[in-house]
Amino acid sequence: MNHEYSQRLERIEKTLAETLPESCSGRWIEETFSRLPEGVDLPEGIETEHIRPLVEPCRELFLRGGKRWRPLLLVLACELYGGGDRGYRLTPAVEFIHTASLIHDDIEDGADTRRGAPAVHILYGIDTAITSGSWLFFEALSCINGFPGGPETAFRLYRAAAAETRRLHLGQAMDIAWHRDNSRVPSVTEYLSMTRLKTGTLASLAGKLGVLGAGGTEEEAERFGEIAAGAGVGFQVLDDVLNLTRGNPGKKRGDDIVEGKKSLPVLFHLDSRPEDFRRIAGYFEAAKRNGIDAPEVEQCVTLLNESGAVEQAQAYGEGLIRSVCGTLRERWPGNEAAGLIAGMFEAMTGEAAR
Ligand code: IPE
Ligand code: IPE
Ligand code: MG
Ligand code: MG
Repeated sequence: MNHEYSQRLERIEKTLAETLPESCSGRWIEETFSRLPEGVDLPEGIETEHIRPLVEPCRELFLRGGKRWRPLLLVLACELYGGGDRGYRLTPAVEFIHTASLIHDDIEDGADTRRGAPAVHILYGIDTAITSGSWLFFEALSCINGFPGGPETAFRLYRAAAAETRRLHLGQAMDIAWHRDNSRVPSVTEYLSMTRLKTGTLASLAGKLGVLGAGGTEEEAERFGEIAAGAGVGFQVLDDVLNLTRGNPGKKRGDDIVEGKKSLPVLFHLDSRPEDFRRIAGYFEAAKRNGIDAPEVEQCVTLLNESGAVEQAQAYGEGLIRSVCGTLRERWPGNEAAGLIAGMFEAMTGEAAR
């Protein structure tokens, strides 16, 4: 990998690991929970008994690694707006909100594998997974405390993070409502809005936190967030395509069919062949009943490929990402950080076919 990326990613990894430590110091506990009440705040062993069930499941998933494109985007956006290396301190906000959303998402989607190993709720149980994921949504924001720029900057950072997290949940709620119900499919417009909320939101948040952290205005943050969100939507479309082609790394190929996900290939297919509606609904139902090894999973993937819907969705996702890269290069010609952001997004294209 290009040194410009690898050196930043190394520093991101170090920052994230320090924010979610293996053993909790008194200072970390106080920063995270404020002063704990008597009986919890014992000088020894408390992290084992009381705090470990919150932290350990999150660390487990975090340590399996991930692409880390959201924190990288944040760091580069901060550089782009003249904030130097200040963005690193804010990277836990996006990466840990992402990690929390994955813990909950796998429960919601009935997925038992994540990043090449059992999902968090499979390892720790649904009760522990829900609580630790919920805790992590809030813990993610603690990196804003003490960020240079004073209370006004902190307020802007918090407000952006809280608003985008609410939007992420709205996107999840839409996606879940559709995967539960095989009697209807959303329109392409509805689907793209859901994806803008579900996945575009963390790209937008990464961009916004980078800009605000650099001292940019809320208008600048809004504008840059909007550009970044477009790449997030493209990323999700391609991720759903990959599920039906090679399979997403560390997840089971075709598990979106078992989930009943109304992804873009399904919508494109039904646009051109509405007469297949009942057939696809039947595949979804059989796959949900009989699991990933049901023959209907492969039959559904084959059908979506035959009509060219998978390819069409791939071209659509790649088009979205290319258009964002074009915007970045036009607005900041010759700028190193803008070029690195565009290069990072470009690397997302073509993955589904490789
Ligand atoms: C997975 O995101 C969830 C989606 C938005 C599709 P990533 O593919 O970025 O997950 P990791 O962090 O690399 O595992
Ligand atoms: C990912 O949802 C988006 C969030 C968790 C907010 P998906 O369900 O589409 O992602 P994968 O396919 O499980 O990674
Ligand atoms: Mg999922
Ligand atoms: Mg989901």
